[in-house]
Amino acid sequence: MPKPAPKSPRKRTLSELHARLQTIINTVVDGIITIDDRGIIESVNPATERIFGHKAGSLIGQNVKILMPPPWTDEHDGYIKRYRNTGTRHIIGTGREVRGLRKDGTTFPMYLAVNEMWIDGHRFFTGIVRDITDRKRVEQAIAQASEEERRQLGQELHDGLGQQLTGITLLAKALQGRLIKTEHPAHAEAGEIVALLGRALGDMRRQAHGLYPVELERNGLPFALEELAVTYRDRYGISCLFTQQGKLPAMDKRAALHIYRIIQEATHNAVRHGHAKQICIRLERSANVLKIEVEDNGRGIRLRKLMPGMGITIMRYRASVLAGQLEIQRIKEGGTLVRVTCRVQSTLRRIL
Ligand SMILES: Nc1ncnc2c1ncn2[C@@H]1O[C@H](COP(=O)(O)OP(=O)(O)OP(=O)(O)O)[C@@H](O)[C@H]1O
Ligand SMILES: [Mg+2]
Repeated sequence: MPKPAPKSPRKRTLSELHARLQTIINTVVDGIITIDDRGIIESVNPATERIFGHKAGSLIGQNVKILMPPPWTDEHDGYIKRYRNTGTRHIIGTGREVRGLRKDGTTFPMYLAVNEMWIDGHRFFTGIVRDITDRKRVEQAIAQASEEERRQLGQELHDGLGQQLTGITLLAKALQGRLIKTEHPAHAEAGEIVALLGRALGDMRRQAHGLYPVELERNGLPFALEELAVTYRDRYGISCLFTQQGKLPAMDKRAALHIYRIIQEATHNAVRHGHAKQICIRLERSANVLKIEVEDNGRGIRLRKLMPGMGITIMRYRASVLAGQLEIQRIKEGGTLVRVTCRVQSTLRRIL
């Protein structure tokens, strides 16, 4: 028996399609907000009400700034105006992490993707908002656990193995002294042992300081970064240079540690994955912006096949704590550029 031909799906009416679409918009977990080109809210879905704690009725007709804390509030009008006048996109067509403001005044991290649409010759923007509080909490827990583990390891290395090596070095030096005094021929070997112990102690100190950078607290970020560059030059025999342009802003200690760790991870990745022979670590301060860059001449990150490990995940978290933007680019000529751009005011001084 021949199989009956499959039934062709019934054509849906426009109102059925509209009802379906509305159901999808009403049930998605992400907030969907449309605004006109002056920033006035035209519509919101139920998820937006849940995320921000406002009723739809109290949002429609308001400026979208009601959902943002400073400094995003102050900048939003500027973004829209600039886009209207010059077509320069800041966030449109892409997504980024920003902070949202709930009705009760609390703020939360959110991922915002904005797109432009035209209806009847009028321009509108659609924002899709995801509350990423839980993801941030997990990232924070991972970053804190990893920081604590490094601190403990660093201290154990320094206080445990470090003390033992120092003790052995003192004994070896005393023995060398005695052998020299008695003109014993073995004094040359004793001298070699002392020199080797000195090198081992130096290596161990650098390892311990990499795990917990004491220079950061003692002498500040530039000193600690110079030390990091020297360690990479010595350890891997490559060119690793640290440069600074402009005066660094007064910075919260935790902010400095976040910056140090971002640079440390990017530098480590450059050697481990990029097999780079040249690494440039740069801090550039201009007016209200601090740019943190690590550029290598290695084989270049493969962004399309990227499987972020803990390194990039924690880097991203640290950048967001600094209210900065993390960019990772493959350089055309070969190599990788990791850049964090953050504001000097507000964020570096007052950190979460
Ligand atoms: N400078 C670089 N050059 C080439 N590839 C890179 C570079 N930095 C990162 N990558 C790629 O990105 C991947 C993710 O990096 P990430 O630091 O997140 O994890 P990981 O280094 O593999 O592991 P972990 O940092 O958790 O020890 C790496 O496995 C590597 O393939
Ligand atoms: Mg890594």
